[in-house]
Amino acid sequence: MRFSENFIQEVVDRTDIEELIGRYVTLKRTGSNLVGRCPFHSEKTPSFSVSPTKKMFFCFGCHAGGSVITFVQKAENLDFTDAVEFLANRASIPLPRDSAEDTRAGGVPRKRILEMNLEAARFWRECLFDPSLGAAGLDYFARVRRLSPAVIKHFGLGFAPNSFTALRDHMRAKGYRDEELIAAYLCARSQKNNSVYDIFRNRVMFPIIDPSGNIVAFGGRVMDDSKPKYLNSSDTPAFNKRKHLFALNFAKNCCAERMILCEGYMDVIALHAAGFEYAVATLGTAITPEHARVFAKYTKKVIISYDSDEAGQNAAEKAMRLLSEVGTEVRVLKLKDAKDPDEYIQRFGAERFRRVLEESRTGFEHRAEGVLSRYDLSIGSEKLKASNELCQLISGYHSPVERELYLHYIAGRLELPQDVLRNSTEQFIRRRRREQTARESREAQSSVKNYGDMINREASQNPRAASAESAVLGLLLMFPEYRDAVERGEIPLSSEDFITGFHKRVFDAVMAGHRSEAGFRFEMLGVDFSPDEMGRIEKTEMSRRQLTQNGPEVFRSAVAALKSVRRKEDMKSEDLNTRLAYLREKQAKLHKGRTDQDEGN
Ligand code: UTP
Ligand code: MN
Repeated sequence: MRFSENFIQEVVDRTDIEELIGRYVTLKRTGSNLVGRCPFHSEKTPSFSVSPTKKMFFCFGCHAGGSVITFVQKAENLDFTDAVEFLANRASIPLPRDSAEDTRAGGVPRKRILEMNLEAARFWRECLFDPSLGAAGLDYFARVRRLSPAVIKHFGLGFAPNSFTALRDHMRAKGYRDEELIAAYLCARSQKNNSVYDIFRNRVMFPIIDPSGNIVAFGGRVMDDSKPKYLNSSDTPAFNKRKHLFALNFAKNCCAERMILCEGYMDVIALHAAGFEYAVATLGTAITPEHARVFAKYTKKVIISYDSDEAGQNAAEKAMRLLSEVGTEVRVLKLKDAKDPDEYIQRFGAERFRRVLEESRTGFEHRAEGVLSRYDLSIGSEKLKASNELCQLISGYHSPVERELYLHYIAGRLELPQDVLRNSTEQFIRRRRREQTARESREAQSSVKNYGDMINREASQNPRAASAESAVLGLLLMFPEYRDAVERGEIPLSSEDFITGFHKRVFDAVMAGHRSEAGFRFEMLGVDFSPDEMGRIEKTEMSRRQLTQNGPEVFRSAVAALKSVRRKEDMKSEDLNTRLAYLREKQAKLHKGRTDQDEGN
């Protein structure tokens, strides 16, 4: 498909280069530009630069550079048109003359969806205060959750009546078509009898409002123990759960210094009611890199206040990582004697929470305390293990000042001289460097060898297929989750999708390893592959690792890119087959003509 210049312009205009490239590369701001490590060649010091104003990127090391489209072409192995399509989909811009795409998004513009959401929020709020409809909802908010009428109004809370048609009929009367209600995720169509019904029923409703004041989505909670506890809007042209935050519309006015990140709607509401109006929550999803960038835009420091259970603490680890990657300062709260901030405030009050907030730990302290809690420091051998683990942890921080601070901290906790710990940390740093250098020289050697590509011989005939395959394999090699997703069929990918024989073999071996009892182990590939081949497989993984963002989204698009190459290859050979058939037919005719002629003679 060929796109008009206007369309391509719109796609570029609506793509946030910082957000796009930030999905692949950890970027740090320097003046008006952003810099990071180039994803297209191997380097230790960042020479990759992005200009948000010019919407261009350039690498001073390998001279890769260009527009957002060029970036996608390179990162996802797509040709120009496919890269435009990729970006259009990301920005929810319907493709021209592609009616299938149009109906999938309902063809309903974002503005219309926002109008519907506003109307629905009004309707549900009226229901909440209508005793004949919303008594149960109001009782839940006021009595069970102890929210004041002012707080209920402030957050625009509502109640969706226990009916399949209440909202639908209200919206129809206001002139909204069923298809529009479905596109807004307010209603759905029944598989059984094709009727259109309300999605949110018998739930208390939380509108999600973006910083410009638009109602972009809803969360709805049951009032008892039934499941699911919360129901959230799916993504629509107005809502992306990977980047929206609950209560950012309020928090944005008082969050420059710090923000609190919690897990749930009710945590945020309790915190705001207690005067901490800089609290927000993600919506029915763990924090994503997109969320992290939103935080980086609004605040200097994020205090993570997740649930105190294990799941919450693990999630905090991930949040810490994503937030430090975008350069925000991170603190972590560990609440005692309460499962979440909401319960903590109900129990101990706002003042006590304020004090805990002041004592919040840095990300490092949180991690270090996690390590320390696993050892009995009164036993020498345990103390040694703890100190090794902590020095290794510290060796991963790049700033020497930061390292000194942390060494000071653990010296105190372990009651060991800081010098000794510093030495041990430096050993870990040297080891890391050695490993890195060895890796890079191996890579350089194997890239020389790949020149004539003796390993993947079909790569030169199918360069696009080979690089799309490398992307997919790199990710599969790195993440068991993706192997799982493929194994379970969540992501449709099979041996048949691979074109080059070598990559097909790698895929089969990796998946066979994954299915085996011990699970996939890289070194076990050595059974089926020669050392040269092993080098290549490692390079495939390494070059993928260079891209600092390799989330599920990226994996999905890599698989999609591979499938699209495959489709095109198939089409080509189909083409060839039809042409061959045509030629044969023609030849047969000619031949027949000739024999006819002969007979005529
Ligand atoms: P929690 O289960 O911790 O609930 O989920 P909570 O916030 O403490 O809720 P209350 O206090 O029982 O009302 C935390 C968040 O995870 C999402 C919601 O955003 C919720 O606020 N979640 C949870 C869902 O999206 N769906 C669910 O079924 C459960
Ligand atoms: Mn709770």
